[in-house]
Amino acid sequence: MMDKTVDVVCVASWNVDLVSHVPQPLKRGETLMASSFATSPGGKGSNAAVAAARQGASVGLIARIGDDDFGRMGLALWAREGIDPRHVVQAAGERSGVAQILVYEDGDNSIAVAPGAGLGLNAEHVQAAQGMVSACKVVMASLEVPQRATEAAFALAKQAGALTLLNPAPAQPVDAALWDMVDVLTPNESELHALSGLPAHASLQEAAQVLLAQGVQAVLVTLGEKGCALFRSGVPAVFLSGHPQKVIDTIGAGDTFTGSLAAALARGEDLEQAMRWANAAAALSVTQATALGGMPSLQATQAALQNN
Ligand code: RIB
Repeated sequence: MMDKTVDVVCVASWNVDLVSHVPQPLKRGETLMASSFATSPGGKGSNAAVAAARQGASVGLIARIGDDDFGRMGLALWAREGIDPRHVVQAAGERSGVAQILVYEDGDNSIAVAPGAGLGLNAEHVQAAQGMVSACKVVMASLEVPQRATEAAFALAKQAGALTLLNPAPAQPVDAALWDMVDVLTPNESELHALSGLPAHASLQEAAQVLLAQGVQAVLVTLGEKGCALFRSGVPAVFLSGHPQKVIDTIGAGDTFTGSLAAALARGEDLEQAMRWANAAAALSVTQATALGGMPSLQATQAALQNN
């Protein structure tokens, strides 16, 4: 039977974010009083999927969640955001992913993820969604889901001529086979350096070159308030400056970037134009609390692009 067509497929992680606001990073062994606590939807994959949907793309998920209240929170979120959950598996007796997040006074954060049922996502789950993947325009993933699942999805995407985006977060060793299938990689600066194996004083260009040599087609580095930079082989680098914003919290800014990029590519923008949309959307995302709080609509992003 034919799957319903979507523009963007996300091989997705799902977490509930447990967010405490503290004055500064904790020292080892230290206890600090938090000024507030809240739970909110998270997971790099789900966040990017929501970003793409808010940018006007039709989005389908491939994910594995727990059969618990946190899993049901994900299903309710995706229903509200118009995201296709047909290939979300609820694993009986398992817990959903959880991210413990500390947000500091300057809006920066630290995150510890316990992926729960998401760890069980595998190539068979992707094969079950073959119809959806083979008919889409863009497939995206992060390193928060098992790489075997991402490799299976990217292989299907390549066979079907779809673009592949990888947000390499959290940074960790990547299979050589996966690099070869990545059209656009969206690391932040520290992920770029970790993945390249070069020291932090190496230039962005030098670090990107290492990943291009592994088979990645384009390395699009997010630079926080400084904007982003695009590196490809044989083409001059492209730098975009940031959109100045008052930062409330930066949770999900990278996911907003990747999801907005996916949506722009799916509606036919070229990579340099799509990067402008993603840069503007990510800047707006930090102006409100929680991963999804500031994630903008297509219209709000367009207004920001016109005013910048
Ligand atoms: O990128 C931000 C996300 O990382 C959070 O929502 C948290 O769940 C972790 O996955």
